Amino acid sequence: MIVMDNIRILLKERPVTEPELGHFMVETVEACIPKDGEILVSTIYLSVDPYMRGRMRDTDIFGKSYAPSLEIGDVIVGAVVGEVIESKDPHYKAGDIVETKLGWQTLAPISANLARKITPSLAPISTALGILGMPGLTAYHGLLDIGQARAGDCVVISAASGAVGAVAGQIAKLKGCRVLGIAGSEEKCDYIVNDLDFNAAINHRKDDIDSALTEHCQDGIDVYFDNVGGSILDTVMNHVRDGARIVICGMISEYNLTNPEVAVRPTRALLNHSARMEGFVVSDFAELMDESLAQMAKWVSSGQLKYREDIITGIENTPSAFIGLLRGDNFGKRIIQVRDNPFNDV
Ligand SMILES: NC(=O)c1ccc[n+]([C@@H]2O[C@H](COP(=O)([O-])OP(=O)(O)OC[C@H]3O[C@@H](n4cnc5c(N)ncnc54)[C@H](OP(=O)(O)O)[C@@H]3O)[C@@H](O)[C@H]2O)c1
Repeated sequence: MIVMDNIRILLKERPVTEPELGHFMVETVEACIPKDGEILVSTIYLSVDPYMRGRMRDTDIFGKSYAPSLEIGDVIVGAVVGEVIESKDPHYKAGDIVETKLGWQTLAPISANLARKITPSLAPISTALGILGMPGLTAYHGLLDIGQARAGDCVVISAASGAVGAVAGQIAKLKGCRVLGIAGSEEKCDYIVNDLDFNAAINHRKDDIDSALTEHCQDGIDVYFDNVGGSILDTVMNHVRDGARIVICGMISEYNLTNPEVAVRPTRALLNHSARMEGFVVSDFAELMDESLAQMAKWVSSGQLKYREDIITGIENTPSAFIGLLRGDNFGKRIIQVRDNPFNDV
């Protein structure tokens, strides 16, 4: 039997504020053999996502999380796209391409029940981690099911050039909304307006968000798709109109905080405008996933939905890529390429 190595990245220490390289440990071990019902997966691409920061806490200042924490020494959780090397499950064979929750490692067995088969002819396989994966589904259900966006609405989206935000904004445009994006650089703002056809953009590092919202949303905001929380959310709440829907998708500006920030309560704006604020987790819509992914795949293949990937090579660069994601260094869906892509289809 050939012994194969698995390179994996473990949580060495819990970050208190910003994660640092020293909080992670890279090690090489012998890959385990798959048991009955499992597949051995060789990672081609792995995903770094903001939610991983939450898994690194053991206590949460904001209350109990929707998902369990990692223990020290655990492999960092996350989705990968990989190739099945060996299968002990009748639904998979060697050579199949899957998306699964292998985490930050190069070669390991996983239950076949946790995998989804990818059709490489449909779209580049890396998109299963972005627009045709968890972030794309988050945008789709957050905007349409929670936000109830409809033609004519004024929709504001934060982290608007990112994996979720860029998709939510484009779907809103497809539905006939007027879309304003908030992003962290001039380059990102130019991209969402010129390439993705958003109506306008606000640079949150440079512009006065309050006056920009007054200028661009004169009748008020119908839907706010919130990816960042913090002071941007507080400012947006001053601009909601009657019947507004505030979609609480994420609060990345707060993920590295040690204490909750003090802010004006949003309840008065909700009451004054008969508005609704609702949080969600993408897995709430798991049963609809096949249907929504089929719709998204159609939009991608027709060119109605565009996407941008920010690919970094080498598993050893995963911790720094993750740290950078939380600072806004990424431009598009951040993905790590771990080995050659047999389809070379990026
Ligand atoms: N509810 C769910 O099921 C679900 C699922 C997936 C993701 N999410 C959430 O959705 C959000 C976006 O995730 P993503 O994967 O699409 O990431 P992303 O937008 O591709 O990357 C994160 C972006 O957040 C922005 N950011 C970072 N710190 C910020 C700050 N202090 N203030 C304002 N913006 C900041 C940066 O963009 P700028 O340079 O533009 O500031 C950065 O590029 C996250 O909050 C994530 O936790 C929720």
